[in-house]
Amino acid sequence: MNIIFYHPTFDAKLWIDGITKRLPQANMRVWQAGDDQPADYALVWRPPHDMLASRTALKGIFALGAGVDAILAQEQHQPGTLPAGVPLLRLEDTGMSLQMQEYALAAVLRYFRRMDEYQLFQQQKQWHALVPHSRSDFTLGVLGAGVLGSSVAEALAGMQFTVRTWSRSAKSQAGVQSFYGDDQLAAFSTGCKVLINLLPNTPHTAGILNHQLFTNMQHNAYLINLGRGGHLAEGDLLRALDSGQIAAATLDVFTEEPLPAMHPFWSHPRVSITPHVGADTLPQEAMDSIVSNIVAIEEGREPAGQVDLIRGY
Ligand code: NAP
Ligand code: GLV
Repeated sequence: MNIIFYHPTFDAKLWIDGITKRLPQANMRVWQAGDDQPADYALVWRPPHDMLASRTALKGIFALGAGVDAILAQEQHQPGTLPAGVPLLRLEDTGMSLQMQEYALAAVLRYFRRMDEYQLFQQQKQWHALVPHSRSDFTLGVLGAGVLGSSVAEALAGMQFTVRTWSRSAKSQAGVQSFYGDDQLAAFSTGCKVLINLLPNTPHTAGILNHQLFTNMQHNAYLINLGRGGHLAEGDLLRALDSGQIAAATLDVFTEEPLPAMHPFWSHPRVSITPHVGADTLPQEAMDSIVSNIVAIEEGREPAGQVDLIRGY
């Protein structure tokens, strides 16, 4: 079994050692320009067009992350990036759910407990107790109720918040109210105090964090974007911050990454930035999952995490 690997930043040796330890029959190599030798599987992130083009004999392409928007966009711009008929598989959870729960809880609790306001008081040496937010006025909306969104919703509901999710199809999750479909987006967002975005970036969801959505929320609401930068209409957010519609935003993902030095988000007093670290790919967990999927394919079973190329996630 031949496996090719390409990732712009990951430690290739760690991945080759880890996969071949789990699959001793595998010959795994880093793909380099000009390599057209046979391969059964590919493990990739933002692969060069030539790596996979015309490799229709592949049995599976494993994206080394949860979101596949970048590779699907590459295919749009350079058809053939993904060879026809080869399944594209993505990472499902592999340790990302817990990381997303941590991030979302930290951001929500910071706003709920008014930590930013107390920090400002501290700078002014002011001993001043604010009226606490009440849970009943602090409805949390999670956009996306898939692997990550549902796990974040579960963690927040576990903290006794009122939690809603929005997805394409209806969900049934204890302590969480499910909204679904475009028709229910307005009802979902109306009255939310916090929106946490965990949608995949697709043609249907691009730009969804926009003026209309912000207007549906409570005045002085909060935004936490953990999905992709392409979800956010950046100008709309800046205007909503100016008007007070949005009190503060926590942003992990951006249209352009790294965020350019001149970008107004960097210096906005009510925007918090992290450098796309909401949930990292954890190599050992990811390798366990990829290898169990390879074994499933070899044994003729359905692998997990298959991407629907038409839906875009
Ligand atoms: P997932 O399991 O595929 O879940 C996607 C969710 O979005 C599903 O609930 C889906 O609805 C919903 N959805 C998709 N299109 C929709 C539409 N048009 N209208 C309404 N709902 C829609 O994906 P995941 O594993 O949770 O990951 C979600 C995203 O998180 C990734 O795509 C990636 O962009 C982002 N992410 C970010 C980081 C980071 O570090 N910031 C790390 C990992 C992932 P259905 O359930 O009805 O299909
Ligand atoms: C990271 O953003 C991922 O999609 O895994």
